[in-house]
Amino acid sequence: MIQTSHKETVVRQRYAVGAKERADKLCCPVEYESEYLKVIPQEVIERDYGCGDPSRYLHEGETILDLGSGTGKICFIAAQIVGPAGKVIGVDMTDEMLEVARRNAPIVAERIGYANVEFRKGRIQDLALDLELLDRQLRHHPIADAASFVAADEVAAELRVKHPLVSSDSVDVVVSSCVLNLVEPKSKRQLFDEIFRVLKKGGRAVIADIVSDEEVPEEMQNDPELWSGCISGAFTEEGFLAAFEQAGFYGIHLLKRDLNPWRAVQGIEFRSVTVEAFKGKQGPCFERNQAVIYRGPFKEVLDDDNHRMERGRRYAVCDKTYNLYKKAPYRELFEFVDPLVDVPLGEAKPFDCSRTSLRHPKETKGRDYGVTTEANSKCCDGGSCC
Ligand SMILES: C[S@@+](CC[C@H](N)C(=O)[O-])C[C@H]1O[C@@H](n2cnc3c(N)ncnc32)[C@H](O)[C@@H]1O
Repeated sequence: MIQTSHKETVVRQRYAVGAKERADKLCCPVEYESEYLKVIPQEVIERDYGCGDPSRYLHEGETILDLGSGTGKICFIAAQIVGPAGKVIGVDMTDEMLEVARRNAPIVAERIGYANVEFRKGRIQDLALDLELLDRQLRHHPIADAASFVAADEVAAELRVKHPLVSSDSVDVVVSSCVLNLVEPKSKRQLFDEIFRVLKKGGRAVIADIVSDEEVPEEMQNDPELWSGCISGAFTEEGFLAAFEQAGFYGIHLLKRDLNPWRAVQGIEFRSVTVEAFKGKQGPCFERNQAVIYRGPFKEVLDDDNHRMERGRRYAVCDKTYNLYKKAPYRELFEFVDPLVDVPLGEAKPFDCSRTSLRHPKETKGRDYGVTTEANSKCCDGGSCC
């Protein structure tokens, strides 16, 4: 039996061993794009403890942060996708994992022709604290008593502010594979807040993790083998999505859900899912006379700002919501109605986003609009409406 506070130590010890030699029990089979594996050394590929491939959802030029990067495989794949204009940062707390990843980074860089990956030491629930800077400080001022413990705490607080491991609003995509479940329960909320903090407005998280179909009982959570083996720290499927919602993300959805469980323990199924969630719904709301129409197929939808919309009806939205809906993951779901006369953002009045209201077509066209036209020839081009 382990105490809650010891979970992180157990995890660190287990992955220190896993960095040195392949641990079969920790492996959940994942299919990666084989073309990206060609430049990655074998020791990185074989010490793969991931449960999904978030790199599939990345784009050229993006800045990526990989949480719990292990020996670096996802980072080395991402490096090739984002290209020389992009950047990849891997964060891990285990020295032995960082050693393997850092030793292999120059080899990958030489093979792909550019170096855009770096590995930093930190805890993913505390992405502001650079553990190597703290290590350095503690070598000069070791903790020997309560007073030096308090002093170390103060040094850590200062480092977070003056030299953050990962700055706020600096990352396009936070990715992770099979790590969030390893974070102790009391820090899970802070972990999601940290993911949110480091993302740029308009950025997104793409996270693969093991989730359970039922709550994991306490005695299983206290089993160090099951905890560090990515089993008993798992969120429930619905709890995982709810954690993104609580942290302020929007557009949260499943990109992938394995049909077959990776493992079942005492009848509880543990499977891999990959979730995408977006940052950027916060901010002021302005009225620019825009409207959207939900295309269906469901009778109605409810977004993360509590706008409830029925299929086919024309709703008033603020400029922020209008622009969010024009991007992934919403854009295919809506029709967009621009006002006939543009309202410049600088002249726009505040919009009350706390309620959802319909928008009469006269509002977008203007009260005095009374035009009569001949049949639109563009409509006839395809022969569909003549
Ligand atoms: C299951 S392995 C996954 C490794 C990697 N993502 C992969 O796909 O192979 C978990 C990794 O997360 C790291 N880790 C676990 N908890 C962590 C935490 N709280 N902060 C930083 N790293 C952590 C471990 O050291 C280990 O390298």
